[in-house]
Amino acid sequence: MADLGELVGVLKAAGEGTRLRLLALLADGDHSVKDLTEILKQSQPRVSRHLKLLADAGLIQRNAEGAWAYYGLAEDGDGAALAQWLIGRIDGDHPDRRRDVERQQAVRAHQQEQATQYFAKVAGSWDLLKTLHVPEEAVEAAVVEALGGRRVDTLIDLGTGTGRMLELLSGSYKRGIGLDSSREMLAVARSRLATSGIGHAQVRLGDIGDPDVVVGPADVIVIHQVLHYFDDPGRMLGQARRLLKRGGEMIIVDFAPHNLEFLRTEHAHRRLGLSQAQMSGWAAAAGLEIAQTREFPSQDNENGLTVCLWRLSDQVERNSNA
Ligand SMILES: C[S@@+](CC[C@H](N)C(=O)[O-])C[C@H]1O[C@@H](n2cnc3c(N)ncnc32)[C@H](O)[C@@H]1O
Repeated sequence: MADLGELVGVLKAAGEGTRLRLLALLADGDHSVKDLTEILKQSQPRVSRHLKLLADAGLIQRNAEGAWAYYGLAEDGDGAALAQWLIGRIDGDHPDRRRDVERQQAVRAHQQEQATQYFAKVAGSWDLLKTLHVPEEAVEAAVVEALGGRRVDTLIDLGTGTGRMLELLSGSYKRGIGLDSSREMLAVARSRLATSGIGHAQVRLGDIGDPDVVVGPADVIVIHQVLHYFDDPGRMLGQARRLLKRGGEMIIVDFAPHNLEFLRTEHAHRRLGLSQAQMSGWAAAAGLEIAQTREFPSQDNENGLTVCLWRLSDQVERNSNA
């Protein structure tokens, strides 16, 4: 039971037009203050004030990340329950709501475009660039190990880039599919697969934030160094889940939380690494559970990055087998 005064505070925080619009926007995934300012067309201090009131009342949560902060709906407590209740009752056809959704899509499209432009520029040198500051060999060995020597029917590599994962795992699948939104990266991937004589893998142009389900379903989905290019990795994971067979697995490799702000300003990263707590929340929301986590600290102490590998398995199938 909550204290009367506290309940009034939560209701007051939620009881305002812009704040209700913010709750509806965050129901579709995490956003930074900058995005929300652009979507609502209100000044940044104003939006920050609304967000603070919502966060103080437990309706949303704030995650600081370097110079930025991301906001998402609260995951538990009275505030979280009230937010869900309200969101379920907001009319999607209301003109304000329709405009917000249009702008939200435009903001996401713009971010996607920035990432695409970056990868168009670096495609030719990507294989060299990606090894910087990262224990690449150990990570690749762990990705192979995560498959446990199995040979699966279909493996999908989301954000395949230059196709390295399809090459590395070519002995582990009968049919491999790589999806990527950069034509330039895919051109390098095609030539790599052809040079290595890998005829059972194909790469296709596509947006993994809204993947075409005809490419699935997969026994295994690999997402190697891709999630940090998304403002809301949890949303992307939910989309990827649609491509997974029941009982299937995802192998995710990404950075642990870090403070290298230049990766954001110069290399199109959106998130400065992903924490264990974030990954378990996103996995649970996508109906997956973490079967294994491994960490690979860098040898380079100054600019080094710790890489994490997560193996996520389909919860439904595991539970029904239990
Ligand atoms: C850092 S690279 C990783 C490539 C590859 N997985 C690897 O580890 O070598 C990230 C890749 O994600 C792709 N990407 C980013 N956003 C995407 C999106 N929305 N849809 C498809 N691919 C995307 C980029 O084009 C890029 O090739």
